[in-house]
Amino acid sequence: MKRILTGVKPTGIAHLGNYFGAIKPAIELSKNKDYECYYFIADYHALTTVQNKEDLYEYTYHIACTWLACGLDPNHVVMYKQSDVPETFELSTILSNLTPKGLMNRAHAYKAKVEANEKIGEDKDFGVNMGLYCYPILMTADILLLDSDYVPVGIDQKQHIEIARDVASYFNKKYGDTFALPQELISENVGALVGLDGRKMSKSYGNTIPIFADETKLKKLVNKIVTDSTLPNEPKSLDNTIFKLYKLFGTEEQTQQFAQKLKTGISWGEAKSELFTLMNNYLSPMRERYNYLQSHRKVVDEILRNGAIKARNLAKQTMQRVRNAIGVVKI
Ligand code: TRP
Repeated sequence: MKRILTGVKPTGIAHLGNYFGAIKPAIELSKNKDYECYYFIADYHALTTVQNKEDLYEYTYHIACTWLACGLDPNHVVMYKQSDVPETFELSTILSNLTPKGLMNRAHAYKAKVEANEKIGEDKDFGVNMGLYCYPILMTADILLLDSDYVPVGIDQKQHIEIARDVASYFNKKYGDTFALPQELISENVGALVGLDGRKMSKSYGNTIPIFADETKLKKLVNKIVTDSTLPNEPKSLDNTIFKLYKLFGTEEQTQQFAQKLKTGISWGEAKSELFTLMNNYLSPMRERYNYLQSHRKVVDEILRNGAIKARNLAKQTMQRVRNAIGVVKI
């Protein structure tokens, strides 16, 4: 049985780009009986940017409730918080000694910061904390601690998995075979999802649709979708944001019918109204589950507590192996 692990940073409100790009595929993957899945909330990773107490607290519950509401089954997936597995931080300390500083200098997130600073004539490390700098080491610890075989991530995280593999090899070379070498799993059809303005849906563009926006808000957002100036009875090109979103939610048959309507002439207003109805039907049961969990956080706590126990069981075994390997005296 192969072990799959992935982490989610609690840094904001999940939107449809996150849902179709990461959450849904990871949940689908967890239904495969050949895999044993560990999905965790990387709360200490979020600390590089989220340094407000209420935000970290709320985003953490938000992520937990989101994944559960989207269909994560805690009987099949071990869901836990990174902060509940302190072995992570012990391993991170050990691994930092096997990680060349130059490797961290080349990590994309750090390099991008340095380049941005140089552009505006600032010191290259302006605004860079050690959490950001050592981020790839902590992530390596997450991955190696549970002997992960596969790590589903977005393409932006590929380099981090390569670093994890490099660090695991350095360790194995020096101390003997200790770690499995993890492999990234990049889902192929994760093309960028379009946002309200037709650009990639992204928090930084302010064009997102939150997964659990209430009905009124959802309707408002759908109405904000940017369309061209085609008149109501004129045929419309299928290269438009409304249709692109519709395709994600509709069955093949619904999508074909909608395409037909667009080609023969339907007003943008009507098209938006059809999209809203379809989306709302899809999202409202999930929204209800989400709201239920948010108002029953003890249920969520229990799931996270059970997850942490299972993750720690593995983590303790790994740490015993690691401590033995490096020559830590056992008392
Ligand atoms: N860095 C990942 C992200 O920003 C989150 C993460 C932390 C992660 N630890 C991980 C992902 C371990 C996969 C495995 O999305």
